[in-house]
Amino acid sequence: MSDKPSYFITTPIYYVNAAPHLGTAYCTLMCDVQARFRRAAGYDVKFITGTDEHGEKVALSAKEHNMTPIEWCDSMIPAYTELWEELQISYDDFMRTTQDRQTKAVQHLWEILKEKGYVYKGSYDGWYCIPEETYFTETQVRHADEANHTEGQHLCPDCQRPLERVQEESWFFKLSAFQDQLLKLYREHPEFIEPEIRRNEVVSFVESGLHDLSISRNSFDWGVPLPFDKEHVTYVWFDALINYITAIGFGQEQGEEEFKKFWPATHMVGKDITRFHCVIWPAMLMAAGIDVPTQVFAHGFLLVRNPETGKGEKMSKSRGNAIAPREVIDLLGIDGYRYYFMRDVESGADGAISFDRMEQVYNSDLANSWGNLVSRSLNMSAKYFDGKTPTMPANWEERTSPLKDVAEGIYDRYAEHMKKFEYSQAIECAMELIRAANLYIEQSEPWVLAKDPAKEEELAFVIGSLLEAIRICAHLLMPFMPATSQEVFNRMSVATESEKPLPEACVWGQLKQGVDVVKGDALFPRLAK
Ligand code: MSP
Repeated sequence: MSDKPSYFITTPIYYVNAAPHLGTAYCTLMCDVQARFRRAAGYDVKFITGTDEHGEKVALSAKEHNMTPIEWCDSMIPAYTELWEELQISYDDFMRTTQDRQTKAVQHLWEILKEKGYVYKGSYDGWYCIPEETYFTETQVRHADEANHTEGQHLCPDCQRPLERVQEESWFFKLSAFQDQLLKLYREHPEFIEPEIRRNEVVSFVESGLHDLSISRNSFDWGVPLPFDKEHVTYVWFDALINYITAIGFGQEQGEEEFKKFWPATHMVGKDITRFHCVIWPAMLMAAGIDVPTQVFAHGFLLVRNPETGKGEKMSKSRGNAIAPREVIDLLGIDGYRYYFMRDVESGADGAISFDRMEQVYNSDLANSWGNLVSRSLNMSAKYFDGKTPTMPANWEERTSPLKDVAEGIYDRYAEHMKKFEYSQAIECAMELIRAANLYIEQSEPWVLAKDPAKEEELAFVIGSLLEAIRICAHLLMPFMPATSQEVFNRMSVATESEKPLPEACVWGQLKQGVDVVKGDALFPRLAK
């Protein structure tokens, strides 16, 4: 086993009956950036994503499409794997809850919980929202009905769609037994739920009292059967949450080593599914005697900016304001896409997006700043040093310069932000250096130095410093725009550079001297209005 630190990050598994959209791609990208950063920083990383394929909703969609549930699920998978490939999502494993390994893990957990006395058979009489796959109590439904002024019809408190009345025999999980332990967890490990606003919501939800949870259904059969009661299938959320430990070998014959190495995980989720991840999931793990996750980070929602009001609105087909990933890829390219969402949406908050804003961010940060810096600097290096990077004066790396000043300690500041998912601030660290470098070009006027043979050393220092700043920025931006950083390394003949651990690679003074440089095409051609 390697002695590197390990890091395990997960996306939610997405309901397979809908195609991936901007929101699911956003969540997946948040994880990909973290996974790439951690790998580069020297961690052994496991990054998983996947699809949630059981439950009433999927069974109904399959029926509508005249397919068996598994045929329907299989038909939906390429939409995910193809988009993830295009967006350069570097996942290590793709979980599908219909895989055998998941059945084994779910059934194994059932056995453990039964043995420990945390599940019991009873009957459920209450409300169920099929689209949200969520149970609601009579009181929750009554409040929602009052708020919605509905008479006769009961609507889901979350999504306002009609609820189904469920009256059936069911197995229950003793969630109520975990109230105190959960509150202790939130108190002693506030970092367990980030950001704070979500922590406060979860804490007050748990403080208001927990009910035991119905965790099996027996009116349909699209799910994992209970090992000791085959008439019942597992409630889809109970099944889905377990995927995180299935992926590292829980319930499998040979899984112990991976499990030990990678558990506990960091879960990235949307703010709408914190209760499942911060209440039910840790309680399930506590009941089974397994460590709780390291952290659940809840990101906000992507909203579309209404040009008239300037406010963010929920994307929906009926409003006609939904934006498809394809439209954004066509506009910004892959790295532009990745950059925009990570730069312009504050990680824990909702983000109002618009095509105008995408163009602005792309043009100012990528075309005018980063892209321009790279072209000008490589161009000058090629022109003044015969197609090569300059040979630098002795001890150049010790000489102070405005760029060295900005680069000093840059990695530590950047890494601090990265670890907290503060991506926009992490990018800002690189942007500071990029802006400083563009200014340095203006102030040092290499084209003037080039005319004076006595200034050759100075010219080498200026151009070499610019290339050095570019090299460091390419490292810092690599998790966000992997293809662009690789291209920059290639153009500077430092193709293998990215193999160095990031903290070392970002130290000033490692420029490869006298190697080929290629100017190449513009990395980010300006978008014209
Ligand atoms: N299947 C469950 C998750 C089970 S995890 C054990 C599920 N799937 S989902 O496909 O409905 O949603 C997946 C994720 O997409 C959620 O984290 C949700 O917050 C996120 N988003 C859905 N719409 C979104 C936006 N408009 N913006 C950002 N994320 C949003 O829930």
